[in-house]
Amino acid sequence: MKRVDVDLPGWTGEAVHVFEDSLTGALAAIAIHQRVEGRSAGGTRMKVYSEPGHAIEDAQRLAEGMTFKWAAAGLELGGAKAAIHVPPDLGVEARRNLLERYGECVRDLEGAFSTGPDLGTSSEDMDIVAEVAPGLALGRTVDAGGAGDPAPYTALGVLEAMRVVLQFLDGEPVFADAGVIIQGVGNVGAQLAAKLQAEGAKVRVSDIDANVVDACRVMGIDSVPMEAVYETECDIFAPCATGGILRRRNISAMRCRAVAGAANTQLRDPADAERLKDRRIAYAPDFIINCGGAIAITRMELDGWDAERARAATIETVRENLTQVLEAAALSDRSPQALALELVEERIANR
Ligand code: PHE
Repeated sequence: MKRVDVDLPGWTGEAVHVFEDSLTGALAAIAIHQRVEGRSAGGTRMKVYSEPGHAIEDAQRLAEGMTFKWAAAGLELGGAKAAIHVPPDLGVEARRNLLERYGECVRDLEGAFSTGPDLGTSSEDMDIVAEVAPGLALGRTVDAGGAGDPAPYTALGVLEAMRVVLQFLDGEPVFADAGVIIQGVGNVGAQLAAKLQAEGAKVRVSDIDANVVDACRVMGIDSVPMEAVYETECDIFAPCATGGILRRRNISAMRCRAVAGAANTQLRDPADAERLKDRRIAYAPDFIINCGGAIAITRMELDGWDAERARAATIETVRENLTQVLEAAALSDRSPQALALELVEERIANR
């Protein structure tokens, strides 16, 4: 892939590396928001963006979120993210070759950036990247010596966050009869739906893909039409699709008591945290509750933890951070988002 220089006004992060792939027309952006002891990490997202350049902005936005996520998790890593725009008709073989060339870009950053699976990429894809960039792809398949898919751990952390939210709203952490709407039944959303169902919650889902909605129906999980997802009454609304959905119009339509989901960068802008507060909707900030996959996979692959210990750490981290933030918010006039940002800034300062 060919390295291209781009002008990025207003980016507060450290560096954005942009690569063009002439063979496929793909564009890869690796945004490094911050490094800790020279290292940063974050997932690799792959999708068809409406414009290739949008991949760059997406990587930048998400890289900052990763800085917060690692800090909240108490891990010594800086935030980064890669976003690859791909053409819609990319075949299996061409995709594999593209991932190899992307692996060369990761390798050439000489350890500054490690990556993992994210929206549109899998553990199998990380195996391919790791062949070219050994030691720099996390979340590889178990067969290849990795810790596998991060999604179950992310879902576990979000489930725990919902438990904390219910305790906070009702005085007891009981899922029975709690209404939860999940927006987006991808990797994490599907795992979360199954866990909630097992807990006895009244879970409903919404997704653009009719097939995944049908698959949920088979499991006895109802759906909500996409266009009614905000205005349908529920206890907890769980954004598990794309970011930026917490914005003026949607927030004023919402009929939930709390928002807690796995999507990254859910707030469109900082004022939206205030809008949620004004509507008395409890918000569980994304970067302190969706860190399960990132925590578990790095701990298992870099520190040799077993799955049980990684699960326990996920639950404890989410529980402690979210309890602290929601309690502080209740005692002050500040939003959970503002308090969560303060929490991570403090941890970054004390590194
Ligand atoms: N996709 C993960 C996230 O957004 C990133 C990740 C997973 C990074 C696994 C490293 C290892 O949290």
